[in-house]
Amino acid sequence: MPHSADIAVYPGSFDPVTNGHIDIVARTSAIFDRVIVAVLDNRAKETLFSPEERHVMLARSLTEFANVEVRVFSGLLVDFMKETGARIIVRGLRFVSDFEYELQIALMNQSMMPGIETFFMASRPSRTFVSSSLVKEIASHGRDTTAFVPQIVADALAKKLK
Ligand code: PNS
Repeated sequence: MPHSADIAVYPGSFDPVTNGHIDIVARTSAIFDRVIVAVLDNRAKETLFSPEERHVMLARSLTEFANVEVRVFSGLLVDFMKETGARIIVRGLRFVSDFEYELQIALMNQSMMPGIETFFMASRPSRTFVSSSLVKEIASHGRDTTAFVPQIVADALAKKLK
């Protein structure tokens, strides 16, 4: 059985998953024995896609990675970490502005549960400008998004925002 340190949790809203997220999962899965992609179900936050829809789109986009599973969580991330026995959180960084927010969250998580470590992975330059919100915006104006998201996501965006 792998040591719990070998399980990485990659949390996010994934509303919807983009090629930038997929790249982070691919690189994380090459480093850790197991990767859990954790989709936040936050009833207080309005999302375009339901947690179930986000889960399905992620799972279908990640079938090639045998050591990756997708789960939905609600509440605090540290409680989900405890439940899974994982102690590594992976977050992708695009800009310095991402880092300010991410550092605060990482320190809060660390103070709530010492032993939890957050690893930051630099986004690939070709993906730096890709975000779920921009992808939703261009899809809402009828633009094709296949350059930025998996095909099933582009289809779902076109259907939902037409
Ligand atoms: O994709 P996002 O929206 O940038 O992901 C943010 C996420 C889900 C990682 C973060 O909001 C989170 O962990 N939320 C769960 C509640 C929590 O634990 N917050 C941090 C400590 S206050």
